Amino acid sequence: MGDNRPIGIFDSGIGGLTVAKAIHDLLPNEQLVYFGDTAHFPYGDKSPESIELYSEKISDFLLTQNCKAIVIACNTASSLGGKKVLEVLPSDITLVDVITPVADFFKSTKSEVAGVIATKGTVGSGVYRKSINKVNPKVEVQSLATPLLASMIEEGFFNNTISATVISEYLSHEILKDIDTLILGCTHYPIIETEILNYYKQCSKSIRVLNSAKIVAEEVKRRLISKNMTTDNKGVGNHHFFVSDFTNSFEESTKIFFGDQLRLEKLNLWK
Ligand code: DGL
Repeated sequence: MGDNRPIGIFDSGIGGLTVAKAIHDLLPNEQLVYFGDTAHFPYGDKSPESIELYSEKISDFLLTQNCKAIVIACNTASSLGGKKVLEVLPSDITLVDVITPVADFFKSTKSEVAGVIATKGTVGSGVYRKSINKVNPKVEVQSLATPLLASMIEEGFFNNTISATVISEYLSHEILKDIDTLILGCTHYPIIETEILNYYKQCSKSIRVLNSAKIVAEEVKRRLISKNMTTDNKGVGNHHFFVSDFTNSFEESTKIFFGDQLRLEKLNLWK
């Protein structure tokens, strides 16, 4: 019973796996098709035109996989490529981006100053300020581009002295000094959430850290249930993980999320 078609998810690399894992934890019966566009990583430094092109091409591919929903599990692609994806999707396909559900969180929050750390592309688009102020104009939004973080994580540098130094350098930035909430505005960052929490603990600062992966997974669940599109067919099939280029570090890092069962398939959509 229900809708057995898979949920398509994409990002530039492993970051979207934080969202994929959160969706899997909330909706364990759902089959996932994941596309990591490692050939074009990092998205954060690319032009809006390139991001639109990548987002459109990957969405087309996910549609060929018969996906019932597409989750843009990348803040950069959500801010710069989201509109394009919406244009090419048939209206019966559910589209979830990673920014709107986080902005909606501010409808009913006591937060006065929110900080966003994200890629240059996301920060440059001003999308968090616009989206949050649309639902709550009282919240002041301060954004800081933190371009080293995604590459550091993609290369497997976390929970070590290098990551601690980079995190401390960014989070001690003047622009973030008055914040009460920190939005992890890149889907790679939940991987270093504990290190970020430790940084604030060491500074004796009480900052709420928003992990968008869980918030987005809840939105996916809510949207699918409202359209009667979940499946109750346990084990509809294995998940599929595609990458546009293969790297060992990517494969190692992906195992953190789905264990050894994870097999990556290389698929170059740009041949
Ligand atoms: N994970 C991506 C995001 O949420 C981007 C990382 C990158 O490719 O620069 O923005």
